[in-house]
Amino acid sequence: MSVLVAYYSRTDITKKVAEEIAGRLNADVEEITSKVKYDGKIGYARAGKDAMTAKIIKIGDLKYNPSDYDTVYLGVPVWAGKAATPLISYIKQNEGKFNNVKFFVTAGSSGFESTFDQLEEFIGKAPLKTLALTTKEVKKEEYKNKLDSFLE
Ligand SMILES: Cc1cc2nc3c(=O)[nH]c(=O)nc-3n(C[C@H](O)[C@H](O)[C@H](O)COP(=O)(O)O)c2cc1C
Repeated sequence: MSVLVAYYSRTDITKKVAEEIAGRLNADVEEITSKVKYDGKIGYARAGKDAMTAKIIKIGDLKYNPSDYDTVYLGVPVWAGKAATPLISYIKQNEGKFNNVKFFVTAGSSGFESTFDQLEEFIGKAPLKTLALTTKEVKKEEYKNKLDSFLE
């Protein structure tokens, strides 16, 4: 079974989970980058505003075509109760190219369900599985059991 892990991460929390998933499944990895600057204080404010309006932004060049994979794992942080805009933009850019999908989402504490709903709406299909992890769980590496069942 071919697997692609496609993710966006602003501060490397989601990245850590993405790399672990890819390592365990021997998957290809697409790190989605943003052409809009979301770093620093101004970037943080812009990120929240753009997420609230589900703004479609420019993302960096991609290496892989999601339609070449049986399953695509999509990873994203929660921004203002929504998915971070670079991942939404990636989905939009690859409309109709997803076979099976699984979502993994990180957040400080809340917004997981609304983010899963938004991802499902943009992709137009329900995920096989979802994984919700707090920033703290990822930092402290307290997610191995959850990850095991997510990967099954
Ligand atoms: C603009 C912005 C908005 C955020 N909104 C939320 C939120 O609504 N709920 C929450 O629990 N965490 C929120 N966070 C925190 C991130 O979801 C959390 O730190 C995440 O693990 C960061 O992942 P990353 O390092 O992969 O970017 C927000 C972060 C940013 C930058």
